Amino acid sequence: MLSQKTIDIVKSTAPVLEKHGVDITKHFYKRMFTNHPELKNVFNQSNQREGRQPQALAASVYAAAANIDNLESILPVVHLIAHKHRALGILPEHYPIVGENLLAAIKEVLGDAATDEIIEAWAEAYGVIADVFIQVEEELYQQAEANGGWRLFKPFKVVKKEQENDLIASFYLTPEDGKALPPYRPGQYITVKVKAPGEEYTALRHYTVSQAPNGNVYRITVKREAENHPKGVVSNYLHDHVQEGDTLEISAPAGLFTLTENGNPVLFVAGGIGVTPQYAMLDSMEKGRDVSFVQSVRNEKLAVFQERIQNKLNELGGTYFVKYSDTDGYITKEDLDRFIKDHSEVYICGPEKFMEALIPMMRELGVPDERIHFEFFGPGLSFKA
Ligand code: HEM
Repeated sequence: MLSQKTIDIVKSTAPVLEKHGVDITKHFYKRMFTNHPELKNVFNQSNQREGRQPQALAASVYAAAANIDNLESILPVVHLIAHKHRALGILPEHYPIVGENLLAAIKEVLGDAATDEIIEAWAEAYGVIADVFIQVEEELYQQAEANGGWRLFKPFKVVKKEQENDLIASFYLTPEDGKALPPYRPGQYITVKVKAPGEEYTALRHYTVSQAPNGNVYRITVKREAENHPKGVVSNYLHDHVQEGDTLEISAPAGLFTLTENGNPVLFVAGGIGVTPQYAMLDSMEKGRDVSFVQSVRNEKLAVFQERIQNKLNELGGTYFVKYSDTDGYITKEDLDRFIKDHSEVYICGPEKFMEALIPMMRELGVPDERIHFEFFGPGLSFKA
């Protein structure tokens, strides 16, 4: 239990730290990677280069601190982060390393303003916040292990590699130990761990399982990025080096971007490769639920899953609307208005600019926030919807 004095200090200094948040977290990462270079095996070095991860970490630490006397209120965010942490294999012993380096970075940036009393209060508060994460993550590890699942990473064989188009390929993966795959919720992602040639550290990336659960195969569908683009380290490695018969280390499915089970009409809005979780959800749907699928993609050559989407929608009696941005422009509010029904649950996934445009449009069209579900491929909390 934190004392009232500690709570008061943390709450009153949270805004000051927030103001310097990005500076502090940048110092923090520099310091932590100097002291613990092995953690570069876990952290996405492309996110580091783009400054996204410092923003995401800063935002969440200060949000937690500002609510230190009511951590219940931030549990939904904790769950979102904990799913990512569990997928990456973050363990209790990592928390003191982050804590120690974060506090040292606060001291470095704030200088004399960070008195011993303030630092001690933050150390205590960090301990409480870390315990919440550790507990939630342990529950997720246990869920991952249940029903014949596994805790960290396990080897999978690539049983099929299928070129969907010039830039996109699907990989079909089965566990090398021959065990059946435990159930997952369509829309969830698995995490692939690779060591690309010329890279000193392993890299971990999340890829949505791009079809409904079938008990023995995970399919991921991966877009090639421009050559040497930091974002493409793992995707391009998969395209260029991973062939049928190869082995990939995979962690169990995670994530909260999944279909609601309340029977409300569903509207999927997919941009580019953001179609993968939405197709998995659609693929798992049964007749009886109203469904529409809106897809924005640059052109026909880059589109994936169109035939599969159309076939499934025919089976469900759903509606399909595709817009090619190269020739027809972007999705408009008027386009969306045609597909929004009473109580529609809206699912949005695509590139950052797409989400930035689409989420406000949904609000303007009267869809309440609790029915706007979205997934951003990247550090989610650096994305402001
Ligand atoms: C991702 C917060 C502790 C490793 C994240 C994200 C947040 C966050 C907000 C972004 C989630 C997203 O992608 O949407 C926190 C907080 C912590 C904490 C508040 C402490 C209370 C740790 C620890 C480790 C860790 C102890 C391991 C040393 C990572 C990694 C990512 C991540 C590897 C993925 C992003 C990347 O690779 O750049 N964390 N985290 N975190 N966290 Fe933590």
